[in-house]
Amino acid sequence: MQPLFRPLSFVDLDAMVTLEQAAHPYPWSRGLLGESFGGRYFTGSLWLGEQLLGYFIADRILDESTLMNICVAPAWQGKGLGRLLLEHYLRRCREQELTRLWLEVRASNGPALALYRACGYVESGRRRDYYQSASGREDAVLMQK
Ligand SMILES: CC(C)(COP(=O)(O)OP(=O)(O)OC[C@H]1O[C@@H](n2cnc3c(N)ncnc32)[C@H](O)[C@@H]1OP(=O)(O)O)[C@@H](O)C(=O)NCCC(=O)NCCS
Repeated sequence: MQPLFRPLSFVDLDAMVTLEQAAHPYPWSRGLLGESFGGRYFTGSLWLGEQLLGYFIADRILDESTLMNICVAPAWQGKGLGRLLLEHYLRRCREQELTRLWLEVRASNGPALALYRACGYVESGRRRDYYQSASGREDAVLMQK
């Protein structure tokens, strides 16, 4: 069976919450995930049959987009799906003529930083001590493409 892409909708919320809590040390709340449909937001997700393997949540304003969340189910990480999802997001941006792309990532998140760099993002700044972390606070790395 081939994994398939499709946008997310409210009926996917339970699967999103489960994946979010498994993938992120500081997961988004159910309430926040539930606000990610429609309006200025757009989403993409990867499914194997009924199983949600990964998703992204982004917004768009004028010609800009911010990638707000991307995650892959832990059992499926390291198999190229994160890159597939990010490339899918970048394609969706091109189709919508979104040319200035932004994101923020924890300075300690090596896998995500490597993925973003591999797909052409460059560091554009830092917010000192922006995130809560196990050892106190950590920087947010701002990236653009
Ligand atoms: C970040 C994340 C989405 C990557 O997804 P993935 O499916 O594991 O990544 P892929 O297998 O597609 O790997 C793509 C690239 O990411 C980087 N990468 C992935 N895992 C890595 C690791 N453990 N260490 C270093 N780099 C890594 C590499 O550059 C890799 O390219 P390569 O295989 O050519 O070396 C995934 O690790 C994840 O869901 N993490 C938890 C949530 C998160 O931190 N999201 C990002 C912040 S919102």
